Amino acid sequence: MTTLLPKHSPFNRILVCILFILNTAFASAGARITGLKCEYLANPMGMDSPHPRLMWVMDDARQGAKQTAYQLSVGTDSVELNKGIANTWQTLKVASAVTRLNYNGKALQPYTKYYWRVSVWDKDGKSNTSAIASFETGLMDKSKWKGTWISDNNDMNAKPAPYFRHSFDLTKKIKSARAYIAVAGLYELYINGEKIGNHRLDPMYTRFDRRTLYVTYDVTSQLQSGENAIGVLLGNGWYNHQSTAVWFFDKSPWRNRPAFCLDVRVTYEDGTTETISSGKKWKTALSPIVFNSIYTAEHYDARLEQPGWNRPGFIDTTWKGVINRQAPSLNIVAQTMQPIRAIEKIPAESIKKLDAKTYLFDLGRNISGVSSITVKGEAGTAIRLKHAEKLGKNGYADQSNIDIHYRPTDDKDPFQTDIFILSGKGEETFMPRFNYKGFQYVEVSSDKPIELKKENLNGYFMHSDVEPVGSINSSSNTLNKIWQATNNSYLSNFFGYPTDCPQREKNGWTGDAHIASETGLFNFDGITIYEKWMADHRDEQQPNGVLPSIIPSNGWGYEWGNGPDWTSTVAIIPWNLYMFYGDSKTLGDNYEAIKRYVNHINDLYPSGLTTWGLGDWVPVKAVSPVEFTSSAYYFTDVNILAKAAKLFGKADDQKTYEALALKIKNAINAKYLNTATGIYDKGYQTELSVPLYWGIVPDSLKHKVATRLAERVKQDNNHLDAGILGAKAILSALSDNGYADVAYSIASQETFPSWGWWIVNGATTLYENWNIQADDALSLNHIMFGEIGAWYYKGIGGINVDQQSPGFKNILLTPNFIEKLDHFESEHTGPYGTIKSSWKRKGNTVEFAVTVPANSTATLSFPSGKKVFQGSRQIVTTSGLKVASGSYVYLVK
Ligand code: BGC
Repeated sequence: MTTLLPKHSPFNRILVCILFILNTAFASAGARITGLKCEYLANPMGMDSPHPRLMWVMDDARQGAKQTAYQLSVGTDSVELNKGIANTWQTLKVASAVTRLNYNGKALQPYTKYYWRVSVWDKDGKSNTSAIASFETGLMDKSKWKGTWISDNNDMNAKPAPYFRHSFDLTKKIKSARAYIAVAGLYELYINGEKIGNHRLDPMYTRFDRRTLYVTYDVTSQLQSGENAIGVLLGNGWYNHQSTAVWFFDKSPWRNRPAFCLDVRVTYEDGTTETISSGKKWKTALSPIVFNSIYTAEHYDARLEQPGWNRPGFIDTTWKGVINRQAPSLNIVAQTMQPIRAIEKIPAESIKKLDAKTYLFDLGRNISGVSSITVKGEAGTAIRLKHAEKLGKNGYADQSNIDIHYRPTDDKDPFQTDIFILSGKGEETFMPRFNYKGFQYVEVSSDKPIELKKENLNGYFMHSDVEPVGSINSSSNTLNKIWQATNNSYLSNFFGYPTDCPQREKNGWTGDAHIASETGLFNFDGITIYEKWMADHRDEQQPNGVLPSIIPSNGWGYEWGNGPDWTSTVAIIPWNLYMFYGDSKTLGDNYEAIKRYVNHINDLYPSGLTTWGLGDWVPVKAVSPVEFTSSAYYFTDVNILAKAAKLFGKADDQKTYEALALKIKNAINAKYLNTATGIYDKGYQTELSVPLYWGIVPDSLKHKVATRLAERVKQDNNHLDAGILGAKAILSALSDNGYADVAYSIASQETFPSWGWWIVNGATTLYENWNIQADDALSLNHIMFGEIGAWYYKGIGGINVDQQSPGFKNILLTPNFIEKLDHFESEHTGPYGTIKSSWKRKGNTVEFAVTVPANSTATLSFPSGKKVFQGSRQIVTTSGLKVASGSYVYLVK
């Protein structure tokens, strides 16, 4: 290198030194192998799959970094594995860029911990080996269960939650111990007084009579030699729904008093094992939880507490014997997904004394979860905690927007209202265990005066504990707040299955979920929850292919709302998982289900047009034909099926469904498209965006239809005039076709109807209705208008999946430099690492910075008509530019 400094100047020597250090650091920087997961979980336990998926990430910031080969080793001895000896599976050095494999070594054994690591060769042929990760098998086979399903002797109408306990001696030296618990209902498990794990509302909701989940814990540290005690507390959950509402969950075919089956398997230092199981030796009593409903609330009478009930030495002579019960289903399988947790503690922002016996707490934001209260008062004082999303004119909690489907049979089960009866023994804390709510406000009233301060109440935001994998930031405060609110609503509606709202329903509404799935996948690593929910779909499907509109379901929803515009989840979600993770497992698992579903629609509607569906739900004013939107979703499902057939090499199916897709597309276009004008039907926003978004518009007319759409938006004063199906499609329909600024003009509105209108009116979540004064359909925590959260990545950052190379193996990068924004940053961590796309304005130039993770590539396209430079070099190809992994900066004029 040349330098203007004198040859022997101290500066020169320092510079040379720095360069040397940098060079050495760079040379040894190589690849790091991170993110080792099994079935998308870090070091999981209790795995049932005989061929679990093992995956890793090559972390290498160098330009063009890629994996040229891998070698994976699995063994039961971590010390040996460290020396390179793998006794279960060792692949050859395989020349491949693949970063996910199905385990394919010696048959996995139950109750066994496997260690694994992977060596990866980089672009220069240099290898690096990961740290050791593990996965542990569970029972693997239903016949391995030793315990008996037990319950107390009460029937399903009994209100108090039951306690169960069992004490036993362990004499030998314990090496390790695992608890396997399968529950019909909800549970908390204790060993020697300690609560096991930090999951909440376990196990996840399934159609209990078809599939019941069991959960595994490491309980080595909780057991001791000598006397031990196990305690189990059971809640009702969706299994024993006692509250009554319009969906009749109280009449569920699986309904019964909660029951459980437990095996605690202890391995001793001498290599022997012993299993302590649920059975007739156990005893039961009623707990202080005098009522619990997943739907409404929990009532707790602290005067009924039995200190030490889950510890050794407790005198349980007054406790009763248990009864044996049949298993809820024959299908007891491992719960292999992120659990629900209380993720965030939210201190009350303010407290107001409304009258002598009533206080109002405000969390300052809307959440799903529970509140916890700490209070002191006279024994027998009954405290009611009424949870609401809004306040009435008088300043009291107002539930009129969320209790409309509730049909109580008496006044003993008030909606979203916990009841806490004090024991009078000093300061007492209550937080419900078997319920959650949607709320911002808690109105606390008591039948005897109590003193409360702001610090006495906290909220806990609960949801499936999925890791954030995306972030957005921009020069617009409103945009940033909408993104945040979208995530809040997405998470508020993620409880082991996607829901519509955390207060009024908690139902797994299909339509809401497929609309929100891209937003979810850009922002959170949610695959485990969706894979479980797709199994719920397969559990629910009728032999003729029909699915209910809510999943899981007690039978409700096979008659209403279950057309393709909603239940297309069966195809769209597996497809999106394939797009985001590059993993076709769920698409394969659902293949027959999708086929049965579309065949059924084809039988019912041979013309290719179907009127089965709800249509563009909660519209502003324009109403589009149900046949139009439903047929578009029918087309989408068939199209996905045809692509899946191609992927899985099913040539006959591919031919059949490509032809059917074409027939539906032609039928839609023949009836609704005016080819001369480029207008579908009446030319409303939904009518022009849905066919653009779902690929129904003939290629030659795309530009024309998009132009009509842009004109329509101007005519509608740059505001939305669409329901949920239109709102899903419109932003990308515009930005994908050269009208990103028009899309942004809708997305950035702050007057009715718009996302920003909600925000300027104080929203911290997304709503169910554009009209914030609506008397009906006004939950304040719905995700069905949530596509905007995905559009920020796609439409502005330009981070798009490439169907030909999914899982962001190749990224279609199409940034849009929105005129009204000064800067925009987006990043998403996919299977290959973190993709970054950000840009900022500098005078007349936009500086665009992009990071393409190792082992992946991008195809970069700039908006047409732009001049692009890298340093001072002008880039000639500004569309379809192939980019290797690494970080790059472009100047765009
Ligand atoms: C739910 C919606 C759902 C709709 C279907 C409503 O009650 O809250 O989000 O999609 O019903 O009609």
